[in-house]
Amino acid sequence: MQVHVHQEIQVQEIFNKMKYLPSWLFISIIISCGVSCVHSLRWCCKSINELRKCRHLRQASDEAGTPYFDFDCVIKDGVEGCMRALKNGVADVIDIDGGDVFRYKNDIVLAAAENRGVDDASYFAVAVVHKGADDNLSLHNLIGYKSCHTSIGKTAGWNMPMGWLARMNYNRAPFSQSCAPGANNPEFLGLVPDNNPTKWCALCIGDEHGDHVCDRDSDERYYGYHGAFQCLKDGKGDVAFVKHSIPIEPGVDQSKFQLLCRNETRPRAPPADWRNCNIGRVPSHAVVMDVARATEENARNVAEILNRAKAALEFDFNSYGGKNLLWSSSTVSFLPRILMSPREFMGEDYYCNTHALHTNQVADGC
Ligand SMILES: *[C@@H]1O[C@H](CO)[C@@H](O)[C@H](O)[C@H]1NC(C)=O
Ligand SMILES: *[C@@H]1O[C@H](CO)[C@@H](O)[C@H](O)[C@H]1NC(C)=O
Repeated sequence: MQVHVHQEIQVQEIFNKMKYLPSWLFISIIISCGVSCVHSLRWCCKSINELRKCRHLRQASDEAGTPYFDFDCVIKDGVEGCMRALKNGVADVIDIDGGDVFRYKNDIVLAAAENRGVDDASYFAVAVVHKGADDNLSLHNLIGYKSCHTSIGKTAGWNMPMGWLARMNYNRAPFSQSCAPGANNPEFLGLVPDNNPTKWCALCIGDEHGDHVCDRDSDERYYGYHGAFQCLKDGKGDVAFVKHSIPIEPGVDQSKFQLLCRNETRPRAPPADWRNCNIGRVPSHAVVMDVARATEENARNVAEILNRAKAALEFDFNSYGGKNLLWSSSTVSFLPRILMSPREFMGEDYYCNTHALHTNQVADGC
């Protein structure tokens, strides 16, 4: 609200001075102020539906006539178009996911992070095994074991475990057999480390008729978080790569499972200990600005405006016009992350795993 506080003070000052100033000066002050100080930050919308929501949110104002969602709405073509707009100075703010924070890490700084109840993490990626699984099976020795993945190219089920292997300079294809739905899809062939999609689909079972085996959608019964966990429960895989909330869901007998930890002196832990035993904290979506043009004041305003709008607009803020428009529908609040660097926000594991996965090289400091 700082922009408006300044405005009000300036307007008051103008009226005080009016008594003493010639009217031409008064008019020129109004004109120059009209250009420079009545300026909301511009939110970049990635689609028509986002633009509709943005304009709708902007309509509601407080008693002083200030919109709660005090942003101008700009539309560009997807994340890519918006990132260009930020760089070129025709938009100021956008909410992007962790993958895009990594992709655009050199161009952005943070203003805020979505809080979905796990601080500024979306979730943690974990490796689940049966309690009592052979002691040789660990995050440092996966060779010859069987694996269950949510699907190829997904964050917890693929990017974090495969990035971990790359970062540690371990064999990128250690498993004897796997179910990684989508591995036989030509579109994802580039992600298969050993060019042997058959092996990566070997444990998949398809639908109830045995069709659609290894499809990258829910026709494949071992697809997704629950599918990968089922693949482990059915005894097909020795390890399942999922998110931390899966083995602690109501109805799961947690005493039957363990997580594999990176720490070699404490190689396994109960599912409830996911904070200390995981293969990467996956950052939440973040509200970012251009690194060259962001100011501390603007970044602070962004976080404040969002939380004020969230409180005032309630249902509309997360749900108007559909799911996940402008930000995630599960956002509880926005955490100020004023001018935080992307690398600090991503955290060591996410940054190091993703970097190794993309470049096949270990980044400095990893
Ligand atoms: C574990 O590894 C050791 C040493 O390589 C080997 O002797 C042993 O048979 C392995 N245990 C199982 C259950 O595979
Ligand atoms: C690894 O586990 C041991 C034993 O629980 C603990 O003392 C140590 O602090 C852990 N190391 C790290 C880096 O977490």
